[in-house]
Amino acid sequence: MEFRSARQAILQLLRTVAPADLPVLLEWMRTTRDFDEFTQDNNDIMLKNIAEDLRNCLPLETMLSSEHLALQKIQQQPEPTIQVDAFLYDEDFIDSLCEEGKMSRNYCMVCGSHQTAPLGFVSHSFSLMELKFIYRHVLPDLSGKVLVDVGSRLGTVLYGGYLYSSALQLYGVELNGDFCQLQEMIIKKYQFTDRIKVLHADICTQGSLLQNADVVIMNNVFEYFLDEAEQGRAWEYISHNVRKQGSLLVTVPSLEQSLSGLQVNIQLSPWVEQVPLNYNVYPEKDVDREALEQIHLYKIL
Ligand SMILES: C[S@@+](CC[C@H](N)C(=O)[O-])C[C@H]1O[C@@H](n2cnc3c(N)ncnc32)[C@H](O)[C@@H]1O
Repeated sequence: MEFRSARQAILQLLRTVAPADLPVLLEWMRTTRDFDEFTQDNNDIMLKNIAEDLRNCLPLETMLSSEHLALQKIQQQPEPTIQVDAFLYDEDFIDSLCEEGKMSRNYCMVCGSHQTAPLGFVSHSFSLMELKFIYRHVLPDLSGKVLVDVGSRLGTVLYGGYLYSSALQLYGVELNGDFCQLQEMIIKKYQFTDRIKVLHADICTQGSLLQNADVVIMNNVFEYFLDEAEQGRAWEYISHNVRKQGSLLVTVPSLEQSLSGLQVNIQLSPWVEQVPLNYNVYPEKDVDREALEQIHLYKIL
């Protein structure tokens, strides 16, 4: 059926609905995720277009010269490690960059020999697959809910939330002003302004935002960007302010792992309850299972 006749058919159907049920039906049509299967492809394409726009504005390693500490921390990793942003560069893209000689998955262990070992990869963003997993399989229906992404960087969690969820408001809080500008550019270009807002701020100044959030997302926010004392203080702040009963906290990696090695006095059992996740939702060949298993969900008690 072509667009015109499909629209006619829908309008015709709406005219037959009992008047008392019409507002409920229209509200359902506005907010339901039952149409996802018809729009998913468009949403994927839009996110891929956003990734292309961002790739054109950023160097291959997707780090800015303003990120001194993160650059230094990567260099100090025990194994040679490179930064590849998983939202901007999927596996196929990395393969083609390797073929063109612009990137390598291996490093030479003994200079001049053919002995090689795999390089470590660090991504500072969720991949498209991880975003879809979070919005389709980790979080419940977000109609009317407020979501906060702590350290929103390129804005991937916000764009994913706009396209894959019905969240009422999506807030990103980002310390780095250059990344805030990039997010603003994308939000404006793709007309996401009605539901996405980015704040250029330290999360430790955003108490009331955290206190009112229904969902807080924390993807490896502090580890590469703050020294240990600052990480400890930031986690103390999070644990004091993410307190809304029944709200949800999504972290990568687990809270236990994030807090281990830090000098903090945070008791997890009175604060949160971990919600088990099913990581077996995609066929093995299509996913980076290890990456999905880093995603953890907690309910605030
Ligand atoms: C690993 S990235 C997360 C990216 C994004 N949330 C995602 O999942 O795709 C972490 C970001 O947190 C930011 N950040 C670190 N400490 C912060 C703080 N105290 N307040 C706000 N942002 C912070 C960093 O600048 C960095 O861009």
